[in-house]
Amino acid sequence: MGHSAAVWDYRAATEITKDWNGIDQVLLRTPRGSSARVSLHGAQVTSWRNEHGEELLFTSSKAIFKAPKAIRGGIPMCFPQFGNCGSLEQHGFARNRMWAIDENPPPLPGNDSSGKSFIDLVLKSSEEDMKCWPHSFEFRLRVALAADGDLTLISRVRNINGKPFSFSFAYHTYLLVSDISEIRIEGLETLDYLDNLFKKERFTEQGDAITFESEVDRVYLSSPNIIAVLDHEKKRTFVIRKEGLPDVAVWNPWEKKSKSMVDFGDEEYKQMLCVDGAVIEKPVSLKPGEEWTGRLQLSVVPSSFCSDRLGLDRSGL
Ligand code: BG6
Repeated sequence: MGHSAAVWDYRAATEITKDWNGIDQVLLRTPRGSSARVSLHGAQVTSWRNEHGEELLFTSSKAIFKAPKAIRGGIPMCFPQFGNCGSLEQHGFARNRMWAIDENPPPLPGNDSSGKSFIDLVLKSSEEDMKCWPHSFEFRLRVALAADGDLTLISRVRNINGKPFSFSFAYHTYLLVSDISEIRIEGLETLDYLDNLFKKERFTEQGDAITFESEVDRVYLSSPNIIAVLDHEKKRTFVIRKEGLPDVAVWNPWEKKSKSMVDFGDEEYKQMLCVDGAVIEKPVSLKPGEEWTGRLQLSVVPSSFCSDRLGLDRSGL
């Protein structure tokens, strides 16, 4: 693109446009040509492309890009609950709300903005949401794209007054894959998981790695902070690094469930896999004034780079 990193203006690389429903979306770009797009509807990342312009996240061809439903694909934010219980809507309301650009966010620890194009978004408790979830919170999300194309999402949830509250959370990450039957996840083997297909019964993973030949809807518990999703056909690996997110939800609807979803193509389960950094089994509890942070970093590397060098021996970040 003719820009050298030395003169690259990261602020200018953050552009706000409208999608075809008139909803603001933010485009982040890097000097080498990677990009990410974030919709203010749900603060949902709807695209993440590498420097060759190849899309890395799945979005259904049948996705409905219309508030108030979450777009089927990208990275919807599940808050204040993951799943479906009580009077709250499935996966919580955050993914269905209009977020605002946070002009003046409290600083993040460390130097989290240098060499990155980023945007800060915020969602505050509304009177409407207080009716089903009566807690005052501020939810801040930073989406950052580093010069090497890594995508980082940092969520901060603060209890701003009143009583303690607790919540569960997930970055519901729809990875785009070549063929689900060629995919393996490393980093979850030997862990316990709750199986949503068996009334959340607890099992222990027995395989060397997770592979796919039927519907999977599980929450792996207390996982290491680095997980690899290997795409054999593309010879590339998604590396998921996380902090403050002990659990990992893994979901592929497979054939039958795909057909029952109006916003999902019958065959599209072959090209996607959700692997979510999450807090599910033991919800986060915040006293008034307390804040929680959950950080997710996504990278793509050639598969030859993998296991040993990533330190999948659990040392984490
Ligand atoms: C998964 C759940 O994480 O999300 C599944 O475990 C659910 O049970 C899926 O079907 C999609 O949820 P939604 O609400 O986006 O259709």
